[in-house]
Order: sequence, then structure tokens, then C-alpha cells
Amino acid sequence: MIADTYGKKSDLPVHHGKLAPKTPSRGAFRRLYQILGAIATIALLVFYFTRKQDLPEVKSHEVYTVTADGVRKGGLDGVQSEEDLDKLYHSTVEFYDLNDYQGTHDGNADGDVVLFCMPLRNAEAILPTMFKHIMNLTYAHEQIDLAFLVSDCSDDDDTLGALFDYTVSLQAGKLGEKLYAEETEAKKKSVKGSSDLYLNYMDPDYVERVQNAFQPPFHAEYSKPFRSVQIFHKDFGQLIGQGFSDRHDVKVQGIRRKLMGRARNWLVYNALKPYHSWVYWRDVDIEMCPGDVIQHLMKFNIDVIVPNVWRPLPEFLGNEQPYDLNSWIESEQGLELAKTLQEDDVIVEGYAEYPTWRAHLAYIRTKDGNPDELIALDGVGGVSILAKARVFRQGAMFPAFTFENHAETEAFGKLAKRMGFIVGGLPHYTIWHIYEPSEDDLQEIARKERKRRHQRKGKQN
Ligand SMILES: *[C@@H]1O[C@H](CO)[C@@H](O)[C@H](O)[C@H]1NC(C)=O
Repeated sequence: MIADTYGKKSDLPVHHGKLAPKTPSRGAFRRLYQILGAIATIALLVFYFTRKQDLPEVKSHEVYTVTADGVRKGGLDGVQSEEDLDKLYHSTVEFYDLNDYQGTHDGNADGDVVLFCMPLRNAEAILPTMFKHIMNLTYAHEQIDLAFLVSDCSDDDDTLGALFDYTVSLQAGKLGEKLYAEETEAKKKSVKGSSDLYLNYMDPDYVERVQNAFQPPFHAEYSKPFRSVQIFHKDFGQLIGQGFSDRHDVKVQGIRRKLMGRARNWLVYNALKPYHSWVYWRDVDIEMCPGDVIQHLMKFNIDVIVPNVWRPLPEFLGNEQPYDLNSWIESEQGLELAKTLQEDDVIVEGYAEYPTWRAHLAYIRTKDGNPDELIALDGVGGVSILAKARVFRQGAMFPAFTFENHAETEAFGKLAKRMGFIVGGLPHYTIWHIYEPSEDDLQEIARKERKRRHQRKGKQN
């Protein structure tokens, strides 16, 4: 068998001869070549190692590494050890286990980072008050990222410039002093009482409470800088004028609400980071709000939660009034009404055109009610919303289109609920919106002032 196999070998293709030497003489030459080759290789290696230092260095590229300490020459070449490599890896590769950022009922103690979102338009004048409220937050400032979106301001309003100015002071821990100095300066200049005349017609208890609430002593967190501040600028177009009647005409409300929704979405999707557990939405024009509002809303540990929002009124109008009517419980009548509307129609609360007979969070309030009483809601208002970050991560947002005949925050409440999230509100925990006297109110105040002066004159004579 073996012989046969060898015998057949000769039938293999010609190159077979090259692979297996046939004569002893060719084998001897081959060994000679091998020895000469080895000697030459050793000589070259010796030459290379002894001459290496004299060879010119080959530069193919240069690498610079940018760090917090400045620019350093060298990239991976600069890596000397395993430790360096580890450092480099951790400065360029981020890993987040999103299971870790779900939020807890005591996020302040548990290190939960809150994204604070505030949309702004023509807000320059109210910014000092707003920043006092931000400083007044007792939730650890180093666990709050502030994010502002400035859009469509009129030419005489410099919200953006003022925001730059105030946030620089805020982060330097000097905003309290700055605002105090500005107020002192303004008081010197202004004619006393002319613009604050309406205060004479407000409940004196309320006015005093507001004054005291803005006075020191402040809590330990007050002057501390925040974890970060981000300011975004984006115009969405001024579809609607800012006149009072214009703003409140029911027809334009839907369009306005959709624009607001669009602004909120731009803000949250640019600012939300993987390490945020909560998102707190806040309107700029708030007058009174407990400093621990975030902790108070958070302790219920639900997905979306809002407080009650009222505003003060002159005494001749009854001292106070529910302000935010966008937080409500859906009603049979509301659902029936929606069936009669076009797919694109937006129901707005508080207008005779849309009788929904819904139960509004604002009206459920009783003055001495339990501030910890929680009720389930369908629509929510945007003045002060605490939501878990996962609500947005999962895709809920502020519809800038008609969703179940609603838009913006009211649609957000409905959408979140539809997605299975828990949405609720606190009827007896109230924050106070500022009161801006309307034209009618100012006329009434002027009439009363004339009467008062007349009476005083009468007494003197
Ligand atoms: C600031 O927070 C304190 C403590 O919660 C509160 O009593 C006060 O009313 C707040 N200030 C304002 C202006 O709302």
C-alpha cells in the first residue's frame, strides 16, 4: 500500500520536485545559503541596534489631549501605564446605568439630581423676584441643574442679557447682595407709591406675609451655587400679539398653547441628561412659594404631580382667586363635548364656549385642608410640575398638536396618564401667582382713590 502511494507520487504536478530535494548536492548548497543568511541577519540586527540613536525620528502625526487643566501634547503616546490608560478611558467614555436614576421619595438625601426647567419670554422685569425664589429652594442646590429657554422677546426687553448677568452672580454666590443693591438704588430713584398704589387695596396680611418672605434670615442653602446653569435661546415666531384681550381670546388659545408646548419640548430635550432623576417645571411669575416645594412634591414619589395655584386679588374683588384652571379631573360632560368637536380643536378651560363641568384642582381647595392630600388628575397646569425624568425618556412630552382635544400641559397630563403614569395634584398645598392689575381693576382703584381724597378734603374743611 505504502509503495503504491510513493509510486504514485511521481505522477504529481512538476512543482513536487522543488518541495522535496532529490539529490544530496542540492541539499548541501541549501544549508550553505541558510548559514550565510543567518550571518547576514545577525550583522544587520547588530548594525540596527547600535545605530538606532542616530536615525532621524519619523513623524507621522501629532496628538494633543484637551483636559480641564489645559492642552497637553501627546495622546496615547503619553500613556505610560495601565493607570494612564484607565484614566484616558474614563475621560472619554461615559457609562450610565439608567436603572440608577429612577428617583426616590427623598431625593434630596438620596442624591437625586433635578433638572429645573423654566421657559421665559419678556421676563426681564420679573427676573429679580424669580431668582429670589430659586435661591429660596432648600433642595440641595448642588443637585439642581437650571435650564432656561428664552424665546421671542420684544425689542425693549433684554431677558437674555439680564439672565446672563444674574446667573453669573448666582453661581458666584453673590446674587443676594446684587439684588439688594439694585433695589436700594431703584428706591432712591422712584417716586414712592405711584406704581404700587394697588397694594393699598390688597389684604394687608397677605402683603405683610410677602414682605416678610423676602427678608432675611435665609436658610443655609440660599446663596449656594447650583450644579449647573444652561441658557438656551430659540425663537418660535410671534403668531399672536401680547395684548390682554388678544392673549385670552379663546380662538387663539389653542395656537398659543401649541407654541408653548413646542418651547417646552425644545427645552427639556436639550437639557435632559442621563443622570437626571426628576424634572421640575416652574413658571417665572410666582410671588409666594414654600422653599421646600420640590421636596414636598417629591415625597409622594409619583410620576407627575402639581400643587394648587391661586393668586391674590384686591379686597374689593374678594382677596383671592383660583389661578391655574388647567389642572382638572375629566368629566362625562367634558368627554361628550370632545365628541362634538373637530379632531384638531383644542378645549381651553375657563371659557363659556367650552362648558366641561370638570372638577378643577383649584376649586377643591379648602383653606385649612391637609397639604398632604393627593388626588388623581387628568389635565395638569404648567406653573409648577414635578415629573420623574423617565416620563420624558419614555416619550411623553407637551403635545404641540391636538391630543384628545388638548394641547401643551393639559395634553401632557392626559398623555402621561394614557402611557400608564400616575398623575396627581395637591388641592390644599398652594403656591401664589403674582397679581397684575387688569385695566378694569386699575380704573376701579383710581375711582376709589378719588373718592378717598375727596373724603379727606371734606374732613379737613
Ligand atoms: C421662602 O421659603 C420659606 C421657607 O419655606 C417660606 O416660608 C417663604 O415664604 C419663601 N419665600 C417666598 C418669597 O416665597
